[in-house]
Amino acid sequence: MTEATENYRTRDYWIVENALYAKPSFRLQKCARIVNEIARGRVCNLLDVGCGPAALRSVLSPNISYYGIDIAIHEPASYLQELDFGRNKICFGDKRFDVVVALGVFEYMGEYQNRKFEEIRDILSKDGKFIMSYINFGHLRHKVWPNYNNVQPIAQMKKSLGEVFQLERCFPASHHWRPKQPGKYAIPAMQMHLNFNIPLVSPCLAVEYFFVCSHRK
Ligand SMILES: C[S@@+](CC[C@H](N)C(=O)[O-])C[C@H]1O[C@@H](n2cnc3c(N)ncnc32)[C@H](O)[C@@H]1O
Repeated sequence: MTEATENYRTRDYWIVENALYAKPSFRLQKCARIVNEIARGRVCNLLDVGCGPAALRSVLSPNISYYGIDIAIHEPASYLQELDFGRNKICFGDKRFDVVVALGVFEYMGEYQNRKFEEIRDILSKDGKFIMSYINFGHLRHKVWPNYNNVQPIAQMKKSLGEVFQLERCFPASHHWRPKQPGKYAIPAMQMHLNFNIPLVSPCLAVEYFFVCSHRK
């Protein structure tokens, strides 16, 4: 199933498509919970790689300074930078970050994936955490949309992350009988707190997974 193709979308495509991500989705809200727990009230900074309309910012605790990079920025701000980080290095000036997140992004990183992991590692502070999401293409009813150019099993993604980072945790962001984020019938409140794998169930009903990584020891 592993597949990395050269099908990359341009800014013209993303400026329209990523407007759909303006409201904090379930995935973003759950990621914010994880980040807020990691920060535990400490002042820290976060880089959102593929931030889209920067919806994550609105659900983070105020002690977290937010920065975002994306190929298509809608409203310029000092904390946002427009950058095609497929073809260019992932960075925000020469800053280092306590937390780097990449949500719904690595499905589009094709052959660049491993290089991007290394670039993220290089801007992560000593005790920093990298948190990413990735679709479970093993879901019973998984769909491979034509704009995905990096399709692989979760086990393969774990292996690739493990070559660059210490993979601390990997658990489903949500479960659903259809490959979409929880709606009102999928008990979103309970799923918000479910941060572990359910044997036999998660491999075929997890919609996407979160990976929490740190520097290798
Ligand atoms: C599926 S959206 C996810 C948005 C947001 N992270 C979220 O989870 O709601 C993917 C984002 O990655 C950005 N993106 C895709 N390819 C990119 C590239 N080569 N360089 C920079 N940003 C890119 C898109 O503009 C879009 O905002």
